[in-house]
Amino acid sequence: MSSTATSSPKTFRVKSFGCQMNVYDGERMAELLAAEGMSAAGDGDDADLVVLNTCHIREKATEKVYSDIGRLRREDGSAPMIAVAGCVAQAEGEEIMTRAPSVKVVVGPQSYHRLPEMVAEAASGKRATETDMPAEAKFAALPKRRKSAPTAFLTVQEGCDKFCTYCVVPYTRGAEISRPFSDLVEEAKLLVAGGAREITLLGQNVNAWTGEDDKGRSIGLDGLARALAADPDLKRIRYTTSHPNDMTDGLIAAHGELEKLMPFLHPVQAGSDRVLKAMNRSHTADSYLKVLDRIRAARPDIALSGDFIVGFPGETDAEFEETLRLVDAVRYAQAFSFKYSARPGTPAATMPDHVPAAVMDERLQRLQAALNRDQLAFNQGSVGKTCEVLVERKGKHPGQWLGKSPWLQSVHFAGEAEIGQMVTVKLVEAGPNSLAGQLV
Ligand code: 5AD
Ligand code: SF4
Repeated sequence: MSSTATSSPKTFRVKSFGCQMNVYDGERMAELLAAEGMSAAGDGDDADLVVLNTCHIREKATEKVYSDIGRLRREDGSAPMIAVAGCVAQAEGEEIMTRAPSVKVVVGPQSYHRLPEMVAEAASGKRATETDMPAEAKFAALPKRRKSAPTAFLTVQEGCDKFCTYCVVPYTRGAEISRPFSDLVEEAKLLVAGGAREITLLGQNVNAWTGEDDKGRSIGLDGLARALAADPDLKRIRYTTSHPNDMTDGLIAAHGELEKLMPFLHPVQAGSDRVLKAMNRSHTADSYLKVLDRIRAARPDIALSGDFIVGFPGETDAEFEETLRLVDAVRYAQAFSFKYSARPGTPAATMPDHVPAAVMDERLQRLQAALNRDQLAFNQGSVGKTCEVLVERKGKHPGQWLGKSPWLQSVHFAGEAEIGQMVTVKLVEAGPNSLAGQLV
C-alpha cells in the first residue's frame, strides 16, 4: 500500500493508554525515536509524528482510537504522521489501515523496536504494518536506558498463558515470555544510575517470571527481587500484576525477608466460585483467601489490592453478593473494579446471559462504595505511623512535596527535601486518596 510521501518527522509525541506495561512500552518507544535524532514535542506544541499506544482490554477502546485519529490536527490544520501501536494495533491492524487512511504506521507490542524504520518507510510514502510476535527480538534491539524518574517501570515478563475467558491479553500480547535475568539486572542498574530509587517489575503475569541466575540456578520472581535488592542505591521493589496461582512459597517468604520488597499485592476478579470457574481463573475464593493468610503471616503489614469485574456473563445477584462478601472479608487498601466488557474472540463473549448494562452499573456502584470505604479506613488506620516516603515531585503549594508510602499511598508534606530522596515522615491526617505527613 502506498500514499503520498511526507517529510521525515523531526518531533514526536507518544500517547500511552491503558496499563503500566503500555507506559513502559511508550517510554521505550520515545527513547528509540530520540536515539534516531528526533525530539519530543513540548507540552502543547504540535508534533510531526504522534504515536497512539493503544489498549484493547475493555470497552470501546477501538472506537476511542478512531476518534483520536480523527481529532489529531496541527495548528495549521494539517495532520501529523500517525502511528498506532499497542494492543489495538495487534488486534485490528488491518482494519485500522483500511478504515483510517491518515494512519501511516501500525505496529504491535512485540515489534515496536522497528518503529524508526517504519516511520522512515512512511515518510517515503509507503504505509507500514508489523504485527508479528517474535519471541524476544524487541528488547535486544532497544537503546540502553538512561535518565529515569525516582520511580521506574521494568518489564520482566510479557504475555499470558492463563486464558481467562474474558481477557484479550493472551491474543494481543501472545504467550508468556520471561526476559533473561542478566538483561534485567543490567537494565535495573542503568535505571538506578539514571536516578531510579524504586523499580516496579511489570508483567501481565509477573509472578510467573522464571529465569536462571548468574550461577545457572533456576529462580523465580523472588530470586530476581533478591538480586536487585543487593544494589544499595535501589530502595524499593514492587511488582504487578500477579496471579494468585503463581504466589510461590519463595515469593511469599521474600515478603517477610526483604525489607525492600514493598508490602502490596494485586490479584482476584470475583467472589463466586461458579463465576471464577467460568472465568477460568483456576482458583476458588477460599484458596485465594488462604494465599492471603499465608502472605499476611509472612508480612503482617501487607496492603492488599485487587482487580474486580462485575457483570461477567451469567453473574446472578447472589453471585455478585459473594464478591461483596469477599471484599468485606479482605478489606483492600486499594482496588480497581470494572464492568465486564465483551472482547471479540474471547470465549466469554459468546457465553449466554449477558448482564444488562443497568444491572452492571448498579453492581459497580455498590462494589466501588465498599472499596472506597475500605480504602479510607486503611488510610485512616495509617495515621500515627512513621514511615519512609520516596519523594517523587513538588506539590501544588510552595514548599510542599509529594511522594509514596511503602503501601503505595500518596503522601504530601512540607519542609526540606529533594526529588528522589527517601524521607521519614509521620502520617498525621488521612483522606480517601492521600495522606498528610510531617517530616521527623
Ligand atoms: N472486561 C472487564 N474487565 C476486564 N479486565 C480484563 N479483561 C476485561 C474485560 N473483558 C480487567 C481485569 C484485569 C484488568 C487489567 O482488567 O480485572 O485484571
Ligand atoms: Fe488476562 Fe487472566 Fe492473563 Fe491476567 S491472567 S492477563 S486476566 S488471561
